Amino acid sequence: MIVPDIIIAIDGFSSTGKSSFAKLMAKELGFLYLDSGALYRGVTLFAQEEGFINKENEISPALEAALEGLDLWFATDNRTFIGERCIEKEIRSMEVSSQVSPIATVPYIRRFVDAKLHELAKGGRVIMDGRDIGTTVFPNAEIKIFMTADPDVRAQRRYDELVMKGENPNLDEVKENLRQRDYIDSHRETSPLSRAKDAFILDNSNMTISEEVAWVKGLIKGKFNIYDD
Ligand code: CDP
Repeated sequence: MIVPDIIIAIDGFSSTGKSSFAKLMAKELGFLYLDSGALYRGVTLFAQEEGFINKENEISPALEAALEGLDLWFATDNRTFIGERCIEKEIRSMEVSSQVSPIATVPYIRRFVDAKLHELAKGGRVIMDGRDIGTTVFPNAEIKIFMTADPDVRAQRRYDELVMKGENPNLDEVKENLRQRDYIDSHRETSPLSRAKDAFILDNSNMTISEEVAWVKGLIKGKFNIYDD
């Protein structure tokens, strides 16, 4: 399917499968995939390791200046790096998940991530996933999807993912982490998680990923009058 040079924004709650879906769509369309959550996770890992955040989620104001020296980037295979170090495994841990939402409420951290996304998306043909892509980061994105799914389905998906990665998660803790992140993400002052008025809702509680891809391809074809496969 040949699609025009557009931006696709995928927003939604935690563990709705946004990133697996966006990665697959990017592959199918020949688009660049950008995982905005990985950038918030990378900043969180950096803040934890450098002592800018404590157990009470208090963030030192010195983090703002330190971000200037933070070399956070994506490899072409979508893995996240700080300098030479691949941080992909660390940023997906429960430890990072437990502090990423407080970190993501801080306006200067959101500005840092937004600037990076704009820089990376300069060439166009991008699919991005996050919480505020269609509302704040790229409000002019041509296609916007808001993903949601039943909370129990989401918790089970995240639990299975962590088990696959060799972690030893507790389902109740995973569920509680999702609940807390949904709450903080939806209630923060700066760019809270919300559906853009022009976003299509995709509830994938009972859908396979290929059904999701077919659904979104249908949307794109309809919008741009594309008749090929
Ligand atoms: O993969 P998962 O659904 O767990 O979340 P993620 O996309 O990796 O994002 C992790 C956290 O980063 C979210 O819970 C938000 O607190 C924050 N985030 C955000 O505030 N804005 C974004 N555009 C993306 C992520």
